[in-house]
Amino acid sequence: MKIMEIEGGRDLSGTIRISGAKNATVALIPAAILTDEEATICNIPEITDTEALCDILKALKVDVKRASESIVINPKNMVNTEIEEKFSKKLRASYYFMGALLGKYKKAEMYFPGGCSIGARPIDLHLKGFEALGAKVTCAENNKYIVEAEELKGANIYLDIASVGATINIMLAAVRAKGKTVIDNAAKEPEIVNVATFLNNMGAKITGAGTSTIKIQGVDHLGKCFHEVIPDRIEAGTYIIIGALCGTPLKVDNIIPEHVDALLSKLEEAGVDLEIGTDYVLVQKQDKYKATSIKTAVYPGFATDLQQPFTVLQTQMTGKSKTTETIWENRFMHIPYLKELGANIEIKNQTATIIGPTKLKGCEVVATDLRAGAAMVAAALTAEGKTTITNVEHILRGYESIVEKLTSVGAKIKIKEV
Ligand code: UD1
Repeated sequence: MKIMEIEGGRDLSGTIRISGAKNATVALIPAAILTDEEATICNIPEITDTEALCDILKALKVDVKRASESIVINPKNMVNTEIEEKFSKKLRASYYFMGALLGKYKKAEMYFPGGCSIGARPIDLHLKGFEALGAKVTCAENNKYIVEAEELKGANIYLDIASVGATINIMLAAVRAKGKTVIDNAAKEPEIVNVATFLNNMGAKITGAGTSTIKIQGVDHLGKCFHEVIPDRIEAGTYIIIGALCGTPLKVDNIIPEHVDALLSKLEEAGVDLEIGTDYVLVQKQDKYKATSIKTAVYPGFATDLQQPFTVLQTQMTGKSKTTETIWENRFMHIPYLKELGANIEIKNQTATIIGPTKLKGCEVVATDLRAGAAMVAAALTAEGKTTITNVEHILRGYESIVEKLTSVGAKIKIKEV
């Protein structure tokens, strides 16, 4: 088991360069098998989710070459076999192999996906989408999906919820289907646009990604392509929040500021000193912040993935702030640990009320999921004294070189194997 130790209360100054987006990468790697040739993707983050997906590619006999931040995927010798549970369970996004395999071979067989326990996380909309395209979905042994079709035919699909995963998975399945697919009430997250661009670079015909109607004209063949992963807006937002807590100043570089607009507006409302450049944000901590409430929403609303780190900043605001979570049922698992660190927070239904400012003092806490882990890191950097975070594996799934990045700006942080 890995634990993280942080000596908090230090000023952080310098530049943190943001890596490629995890939530785009985890879809791009499965999407790459749809080519008949070779796909090169650069700006791939070195996180354990990337490794887990490469392990699946290798199990499917796909040729994978990694060189620093890029990856070359060649599915020439690929074999469409069942994706074993030991692979599928490692992360949520293993489910993108279902759409990609279905799109390419008209058959996918995979054990249930894993991922953070932040809610029920059903995938009914993905499966309904596959069925609308002509596939038959069977659940075998209570923990395995078999999805197959004689032929995939374009269809009109309305998503009851603008789900990121369902939008991408249906796109992957539809890209080589016969005829036209229209996804209505599609999710609009930048990662979806990045995946659609990747597929279009291979020769797909997708329009409307980034809006709530995506149209996909099926094609027979997808070819060679070169693609770049967009910067990770959640990693960027996490470090911007850390900058508001400890930056003197902290520059968060290589980002698309527009992707974190909702966060930046809320930070400005709270009184955080921000300089917003074309590809960076410079953030300087202030002695006093105004209580500021947030409500999570689908993009371009306030990202649920930044809700947990934001609550740490709310503990330093003067007065009563509220955080309402609307996407996931179980995304306040970090709150008991924030309280142990000294925060004053009450949860009622899906709203946390935070009264601040409170001094945080280091103690032992748990990273219950990926973004809860990021919240613990932000809190530990702010707290006086030493904080020990267990279950660090969650954090390493999504934050590339977090120890190195924070050390380079003055943090005292290390990971120990125990
Ligand atoms: C993605 C992100 C995750 C982020 C979330 C919302 C990845 C790998 N993960 O997760 O970090 O928190 O978007 O921005 O990109 N739902 C259903 N049925 C379905 C699918 C979803 O009811 O078939 C519900 C979910 O339970 C949830 C909501 O829809 O309440 C949104 O889920 P979705 O957008 O699908 O999230 P993910 O793609 O899993």
